[in-house]
Amino acid sequence: MSVKFNYKYAADVISEEEFESLQPFVNAAHEMLHNGTGAGSDFTGWLTWPDNYDREEYERIKKSAEKIRNDSQVLVVIGIGGSYLGARAVIEYIHSPSYNLMCKDTPQIFFAGNSLSGSEMANVLKLCDGKDVSVCVISKSGTTTEPAIAFRIFKEYMENRYGKMEAAKRIYCVTDKSRGTLKTIAEREGYESFVIPDEIGGRYSVLTAVGLLPIAVSGADIDALMAGARDAAKAYQNSDISKNDCYRYAAARSIMYRKNKAVELLVSFEPRFALMAEWFKQLFGESEGKDNKGIFPASCIYSTDLHSMGQFVQEGSRIMFETFVNIEGTGKEITIKKNEDNGDGLNFLDGESMGYINGKAMQGTLLAHADGGVPSFVLDVPGADEHSLGWLIYFFEKACAICSYLLGVNPFNQPGVEAYKRNMFALLGKPGYETEREVLEKRLNG
Ligand code: PA5
Repeated sequence: MSVKFNYKYAADVISEEEFESLQPFVNAAHEMLHNGTGAGSDFTGWLTWPDNYDREEYERIKKSAEKIRNDSQVLVVIGIGGSYLGARAVIEYIHSPSYNLMCKDTPQIFFAGNSLSGSEMANVLKLCDGKDVSVCVISKSGTTTEPAIAFRIFKEYMENRYGKMEAAKRIYCVTDKSRGTLKTIAEREGYESFVIPDEIGGRYSVLTAVGLLPIAVSGADIDALMAGARDAAKAYQNSDISKNDCYRYAAARSIMYRKNKAVELLVSFEPRFALMAEWFKQLFGESEGKDNKGIFPASCIYSTDLHSMGQFVQEGSRIMFETFVNIEGTGKEITIKKNEDNGDGLNFLDGESMGYINGKAMQGTLLAHADGGVPSFVLDVPGADEHSLGWLIYFFEKACAICSYLLGVNPFNQPGVEAYKRNMFALLGKPGYETEREVLEKRLNG
């Protein structure tokens, strides 16, 4: 039931000897991660979390999810980056990208506070009209501007609709255990609160309350999700690349980077993977992209994007390698039936399932891209269920940390994210930024 890595479609540019030559570096990265001697070692709590998570809080998450399912038709989840992508990715992967149109016994789940768009905020407010609503606000720092603005708006909305006391029973907060504005508000108002552990950074937090509360509200099986991550944690203890597919993938990425492949295109033939790819992009982009280094993480959903990006991948700049996420068995199937007049010429597919056709499209693409000079890796994921997904999440988190150490960067900080914030605060006239404002306005106007 594990995630399997193979590099059959990159075998002409990568060899077993290259993997072997990386073994000492992978050993060193493994030691740094497990012994806490690497950069950012205060943030490696996610490594053992699937075993060590707080059981009491976990039961409270389940209880709150049940309450929300019973008293709400809509859950609004407020958060950005690592406080948003994981929950949405898991919900769409387990149910469908159309979850909100299909859910019957569970609330619709809308996401807010992940942009500064006024029109999107107005749309989410409109979607709440006439329905019973709960709000889950998630921010580790408790001070991030996008969710802070969204929460100011939704707090007022909830209090106007339900009165302060009932609103407080419908607002859930996930934040730091002791610091931040959000923590102060939650304590003052008496919201049900959950903790983002100090030692787990935002983009590694999907298996904490950050992801688990919204995921549990959707009806997905969080026990199986955690069990999948726990099994993966056990499976990836051995640093021997020949026995550890997670480290093998990390080593393969590192080899591609050394061969000047600056872009990794993560692809899947299942639309349910689209948000998981966004989560992956944040995980790898924020972890690796620093000190003028790193592989740029990009994504496509095939065959959809073969009709938009396929031309570039096949024949454009040779800057990329691909990683195909092959999800084996997605549950539901549709079979093509024979049609007497065969006007569309598709009778050669009589009796074949769409899954079979999709599989052939993937094989055809792998071969075509190999011919076009794009090396590809394949990750076989055993199913579209919670256990497989929990495993895959852990696989990517650990691979990302190992890749970052192989690259020589700290996988757990994101100093570059501050640059736009400083400028935005200065331009908005936030107290304390007066001199910077003048300089920036001169640059903008000159
Ligand atoms: O990975 C990270 O740490 C970031 O992407 C954060 O998740 C994101 O910036 C949101 O931060 P916060 O949860 O503090 O609001």
